[in-house]
Amino acid sequence: MEIKKLHSLKGELSVPGDKSISHRAVMFGSLARGTTRITHFLESADCLSTISCFEKMGISIQRKKGEVLVEGKGLHGLSAPASVLDAGNSGTTTRLISGILAGQNFSSQLSGDDSLKSRPMNRIITPLTMMGADIKSLKGDGCAPLFITGKPLKGIHYISPVASAQVKSCVLLAGLYAEGPTSVTEPVLSRNHTEIMLKYLGAEVTAAGTTCSVCPEPSLTARDILVPGDISSAAYFMAAGLLAPGSEILLKNVGINPTRDGMLKVCRAMGGNITLLNENREGEPTADLLIRSSSLHGTVIEGDIIPTLIDELPMIAVMAAFASGTTVIRDAQELRVKESDRIQVMVDNLRLMGADIEGTADGMVIHGGPSLHGAVIDSHLDHRVAMSFAVAGILCDGPLTILHGDCVNISYPDFYQDLYGLAEL
Ligand code: S3P
Repeated sequence: MEIKKLHSLKGELSVPGDKSISHRAVMFGSLARGTTRITHFLESADCLSTISCFEKMGISIQRKKGEVLVEGKGLHGLSAPASVLDAGNSGTTTRLISGILAGQNFSSQLSGDDSLKSRPMNRIITPLTMMGADIKSLKGDGCAPLFITGKPLKGIHYISPVASAQVKSCVLLAGLYAEGPTSVTEPVLSRNHTEIMLKYLGAEVTAAGTTCSVCPEPSLTARDILVPGDISSAAYFMAAGLLAPGSEILLKNVGINPTRDGMLKVCRAMGGNITLLNENREGEPTADLLIRSSSLHGTVIEGDIIPTLIDELPMIAVMAAFASGTTVIRDAQELRVKESDRIQVMVDNLRLMGADIEGTADGMVIHGGPSLHGAVIDSHLDHRVAMSFAVAGILCDGPLTILHGDCVNISYPDFYQDLYGLAEL
């Protein structure tokens, strides 16, 4: 993908539906009784992987543009898949479905692409095994392919060493099939979409601080689900609109759940001019975001805010390289086990563009300021890396080439069209 410099970005954009919420709507809709109508569903490769897994387990799912109808059969309505469940590139699909599969009365195998097969699964194998599950990494390396033999489960109180919504959700979903209540305590609160949606569909869920609990065998009832715009997709336009001089962009209906809104806070801490309009605080909170170009400066990003912006850190690293002063990112060691090692990949690629950046074990130190130039950068098939560098490419001097730029399909198939659609050439 060749990216050329753009002068300013102007106009309105409705970003695609939230990826985390779209996955959950299909999964929980499959476990509810009745028809779940999902509006503004994210039709990207990751969410289609989730759909195909549930279709293989006997759930009928119809897709029309932007709307999905899931014919849920209840908590015990899934049937044994005839072949391997393919989660593609999606860690969320793999880890959440594992929790559901652990309590079924059939066996199944879950696998995916090379990136997925290198991602750590012991973080779910450990708590599921404590619940009595039979889940094995087939190669014994703690990664997928996973073989899961459904077993009766018992509820546990799991103290998770990592702030991960995928781990938390996996354990809570297994808890729906367990004997007795299940709870999870995390070191820092991670995104709470599972808790919100399970409760909305009728489960008994309680949350206090960084602990949440579910009661087993809820009767989940289908309800319409409206998916808000994904703040992780909006992040590229927030950064581009703030950095490109003379820009003004209105991003419509973006999810601003406080467990996901760290990007908003960091943009403001860096001096970004962002106004929230039409705020709606019911269920999953949303707002329109008005972005105006601003002169950005460095900041320190660490501690409890990290899980609320974990997927936005590649974009933040690029923003910091264009801002004045130094930005320090700490406590983000999870970046090393995402779709790529996002610390290494961002450092290597930003250096190719002339940035002054160092990687640390758990983050990055970025000295902003030097003007960045075009280069040939490798996305390592990581969608968030590709989109972050597309934003760098519209701002730097000279053309930027992104290798494997089409991996944006994972979360945002129309990304390049939307970016160029806002361009004032
Ligand atoms: C997700 C949780 C996060 C995030 C991922 C989506 C989810 O991962 O990075 O893109 O939908 O639960 P972790 O839970 O591993 O931090």
